[in-house]
Amino acid sequence: MREVKSIQVGLTTRCNSNCYFCFREELKRAGRKEGNVDFPTEGIQRIVDQGIRDIQLCCNRGESLFHPEIDKIIDIIKGSGSRFEMNTNGDRFDSKWWYDLGQKMTPGDQVIFALDGLKSAHEKYRKTNWVNVVMNMKAFMEGGGQAIWQMVLFKHNEHQCDLVRKLSKEMGCKETWIINSRFYNNIYRKPTKEYGKTKEEILISGKVENIKCRFHLGERVYIGVDGSVWPCCFTRCHFGFKERAYPNNVVTKNYNKERVDFNNVMNNTLNDIVNNSKMFNYVFDNMYNESVPYKAEYNGSFKEDIDKPIMYKNPSNERLVRHPRNMVNFACQLYCHDTPEIEKNRREIRN
Ligand SMILES: C[S@@+](CC[C@H](N)C(=O)[O-])C[C@H]1O[C@@H](n2cnc3c(N)ncnc32)[C@H](O)[C@@H]1O
Ligand code: SF4
Ligand code: SF4
Repeated sequence: MREVKSIQVGLTTRCNSNCYFCFREELKRAGRKEGNVDFPTEGIQRIVDQGIRDIQLCCNRGESLFHPEIDKIIDIIKGSGSRFEMNTNGDRFDSKWWYDLGQKMTPGDQVIFALDGLKSAHEKYRKTNWVNVVMNMKAFMEGGGQAIWQMVLFKHNEHQCDLVRKLSKEMGCKETWIINSRFYNNIYRKPTKEYGKTKEEILISGKVENIKCRFHLGERVYIGVDGSVWPCCFTRCHFGFKERAYPNNVVTKNYNKERVDFNNVMNNTLNDIVNNSKMFNYVFDNMYNESVPYKAEYNGSFKEDIDKPIMYKNPSNERLVRHPRNMVNFACQLYCHDTPEIEKNRREIRN
C-alpha cells in the first residue's frame, strides 16, 4: 500500500519571462496555444484535507507568483502547518510582500530564487529584473525566510560562479545551487569549465539497474495545473506532453484513458490514485524493463551535435517540435540514474 506524503504542484501556466529552455517555451515553440491555466485553489484545500504536510510550489511551465490567488494558497498551506517550498523567479510583488512571506515561514521551509549570475549574465537568459529579484530575496530573508540562490550554468555566466557563491553567502542565503541547463545551443552555450553533462548526455551511459526513483515510488507526486496527478514532474512532461506525438506509447495510452475521471486530484484522493491508477502501476512496474514498448515515430537519424536541437514534424499537427533526442523506452530510464555523473550535474553548496 503506497501512501502519498508530499507533493509538488504546478499552480499556473502564467509567467512574466520566456526563458528559452523552459518547458513552457518548448511547448509554445511546438505550437501549443493553451493560454493561461490556473490550478483551482480548492484543489490545494483538498490536498491539505488529505493530510499532506509537505507542499512544493514549482510549476513545470509557469511562475507560481502569477496565480491569481497565490496569497490565499500560501495561507491555506501555512495555515495547515505544512512545510512550504517554492521555486520562483522572484520578480513580482514588492519588498513588503516578500518580508511578510518571510514572516509566515517556519523551520524547514525554503524558497529557491532563480538568479543566473550577476545582472547582465542573468538578464541574458531570463527576462526578470535582477535588481528586483535580489531585493525581494533580501526582504524575504529579513522577514525570517530561508532562501536558496539557484543559478543555471552557461558559458556566459560560468566565470561568475565564485562571485555568486560569495554574494549568496554574504546576503545570508542558506545554500547556493548551481545546476546545468537542460539543454544548450549556439546562443546559450554550454559552459567550458565547470561542466558535467546534461541529463540527455548522461542517459547514454546510464544503466537501468541504477535507477532510483526521485519521487520515492508514489510517496511524492506531481500535480499539474489541470489537476492531473503524475508519478513525478518528469513523467508529467515526458508522457503528458512530449509523448502526445507518440500515440502508441503505453503510458500515454493509459493516461489518456484515465486522466479526466481518475488521475485527477479534483476527483479522487491521492492515495487512491497512486495505488489504483493503471498509469502509475505501469510506470512503477516497468521502470527497469528495457523492453517496454516505445515506438518513436521519428525515423530520421540522430545527430550527436548537442548545439542543434533536433526538430521534427509532430505527426498529429504538422508543427515542428523538438525531438527528445536520446530517448529510450521510458522517462525513468532517462531521468533517474543514480550515478556520480548526476551529482556532477548539480552542485549544491551550503553557505
Ligand atoms: C519552469 S521553472 C518554474 C519555477 C520558476 N518560474 C523559475 O523560473 O524558477 C522550474 C525550474 O526549472 C529551472 N530552470 C529554468 N531554466 C532552466 C534550464 N535551462 N535548465 C534547467 N533548469 C532550468 C528553474 O530555475 C526552476 O527551478
Ligand atoms: S521564469 Fe520560470 S516558468 Fe517563467 S519562463 Fe523562466 S523558467 Fe519558465
Ligand atoms: S522518472 Fe520514474 S524513477 Fe524518476 S522520479 Fe519519475 S517515476 Fe520515479
